[in-house]
Amino acid sequence: TYVVTESCIKCKYTDCVDVCPVDCFREGPNFLVIDPDECIDCTLCVAECPVEAIFSEDDVPTDQQHFTALNAELSKAWKPIIEKKDAPADADDWATVTGKLDKLER
Ligand code: SF4
Ligand code: F3S
Repeated sequence: TYVVTESCIKCKYTDCVDVCPVDCFREGPNFLVIDPDECIDCTLCVAECPVEAIFSEDDVPTDQQHFTALNAELSKAWKPIIEKKDAPADADDWATVTGKLDKLER
C-alpha cells in the first residue's frame, strides 16, 4: 500500500485525489490518508503531491514509520474524498515545515 506522511499536514493540496483509480483517499480536517485495504499500488498519486508526502510502505522514511499505522487507523474513521478541492489558504506556509505531527487534527 501507499502511505501519506507528515508533509501533508496543514498542506492538504488534494492533487493526489484526482488520479486515484480506486478512490481510496480519506479526509480529515487538515490531512489526508490512504485506506490500505483499498490501495492497489498503482503509484499514480506519488508524483502528484507538491510536497512529496506519499511513499510506498516499503519506502517510508525511517523517521516517518508511524504514519503507516496512522493511515490505517484514520482511514477507518474518516470519509472518502474523491475530488480535488482548494488547499487551505496558508498551505504554502507549511510546505517546508517539518515536525508537524502535533498539528494533526483528528
Ligand atoms: Fe490510489 Fe494508486 Fe495512490 Fe494507491 S497508489 S492511493 S491506488 S493513486
Ligand atoms: Fe496531501 Fe499531497 Fe495529497 S499534500 S492531500 S498528499 S497532494
